[in-house]
Amino acid sequence: MNNFIFQNPVKLIMGKGMIAELANEIPTGKRIMVTFGGGSVKKNNVYNQVVEALKDFYTVEFWGIEANPTIETLRKAIALGKEEKIDFLVAVGGGSVIDGTKLISAGILYNGDAWDLVLAGKEMNTIPLATVLTLPATGSEMNQGAVISNMATKEKFAFYSNFPVFSILDPETTFTLPDNQIANGLTDTFVHVMEQYLTVPAVSRLMDRWAEGILQTVVEIAPLIKKDKHNYDLMAEFMLSATMGLNGFVALGGVPQDWATHMIGHELTALHGLSHGHTLAIVLPGTMNILRESKGDKIIQYGERVWGITEGTRDQRIDKTIAKTDEFFRSLGLTTRLSEEGIGMETIEEIERRFNERKVAFGENGNVNGEIAKKILMDRI
Ligand code: NZQ
Ligand code: ZN
Repeated sequence: MNNFIFQNPVKLIMGKGMIAELANEIPTGKRIMVTFGGGSVKKNNVYNQVVEALKDFYTVEFWGIEANPTIETLRKAIALGKEEKIDFLVAVGGGSVIDGTKLISAGILYNGDAWDLVLAGKEMNTIPLATVLTLPATGSEMNQGAVISNMATKEKFAFYSNFPVFSILDPETTFTLPDNQIANGLTDTFVHVMEQYLTVPAVSRLMDRWAEGILQTVVEIAPLIKKDKHNYDLMAEFMLSATMGLNGFVALGGVPQDWATHMIGHELTALHGLSHGHTLAIVLPGTMNILRESKGDKIIQYGERVWGITEGTRDQRIDKTIAKTDEFFRSLGLTTRLSEEGIGMETIEEIERRFNERKVAFGENGNVNGEIAKKILMDRI
C-alpha cells in the first residue's frame, strides 16, 4: 500500500424529504444561482422542494444544462453568475448539471474563457457548490471531477475542481427516471468500480472486496429495479453504490487504475452523442478482451467472485467472464455493439487519429494508445 492522505469533505445528506436541509446548510445572506437541466425536476416535485427550501435566500435560476454539458451553454451561466454577483451554487439534477456547475463555480472567478480551464484540466479557485442529485451514476456529487463537451470542436474532456460542500441524495427523486437512464446509471456505477479494480490482483485485499461488494450489489439490485423502479430501498442502494463507486473510497492506497474504457467512451459520445453509460457497455468487454494478457489474473478473480465462474481453462474462464459482463449490460436494455448503433470504421479510425494526435495512452500500464483503442473498438463491431 502506498502512503496516502485521504480527505473527502463532502457532507452527504441522504433520505426522504432531505431537500429541505438546503435551508439549514447554506450560510445566510448568500446570493445563490440554482442550476437545472431540461425540466425533469418539474415532473418529480424536486423543483418545488428546492424553491420552498430556498425561499429566504436571493436566488437566480439557470435552466438548460444539457446531457454532456457543453461549454457553449456554460458560458451563458457564467456570464449570468458574474452579472448577479453569485457566491453560492446549487446544482439540481444528474451528473451533467453537477459537472457543468463545477465549471461555472470556477468560471465565475475567472476572467478569460472557461474553455481555457477545461483545457488546463484543473482549477481550484471556485465559489462553493452544493448538489441535489436526481440520477445515480457519475459520483460527481462526491468527487472533484467534471466532464465538459465542446459542440464546436466535438470534443469532450475531463476537468478537476473542488468537491461539493454538501450533497443531498433523496432516493425518491429517482422515481421518474426512464428505463434507459437507469440502465446508463447502473452501467456507469459498475464501470467506475471496474476502472479502479480490473487491473492486477493482490494489491489490496480490502480495496478488492469493497469493489466486489459494489459490483455484486449492482448485479443483485439491477433485475429487482427493473421490476420495481419505485422501490425506495432499492433506489437508495443504487444511489449509495453510485456515490461510493467514484468518491475515492475504493482506490485508497493508490491501487492501479485503468480509465481506458471511459476515455474511449467519451470519444463515442463526442462524435455520436451516445449517452455516457451506454458507451461504457459497448467498450468495456472489448477492453477486457484485448487486454486479456495483462488483466487475465484479475479477470479470473472477478469472474469467480462476481459471477461464480470457476470451471474451465484460463482462456475459457476469461471468455465466460467477458460474455457474462456483456450479457449483464444487455439485460439492462443496452446494446453492446457499435454496429447496433450504426457506428463503423470511420469513427474507429477517427478515434485512433485523435489519440495519436494528442499522444495519449491510457490504462494501468499506459499502453492504450490509438492503435490499441482501435483494436478494442474493432472487437466491438
Ligand atoms: O435535463 P433533465 O431534464 O434533468 O433530464 C435528465 C437528462 O435528460 C434526465 N434526468 C436526470 N434525473 C432525472 C432525469 N429524468 C427523470 N427523472 C430524474 N430523476 O436524465 C438525462 C441524463 O442526465 P445526465 O445528467 O446527463 O446523466 P448522468 O448523471 O449519467 O451524467 C452524465 C455526464 O456525467 C459525466 C458524463 O461524461 C456525462 O457528461 N461523467 C461525470 C463524471 C464525474 N463528474 O466524476 C464521471 C463519469 O464517468 C462521467 O464521465
Ligand atoms: Zn462514468
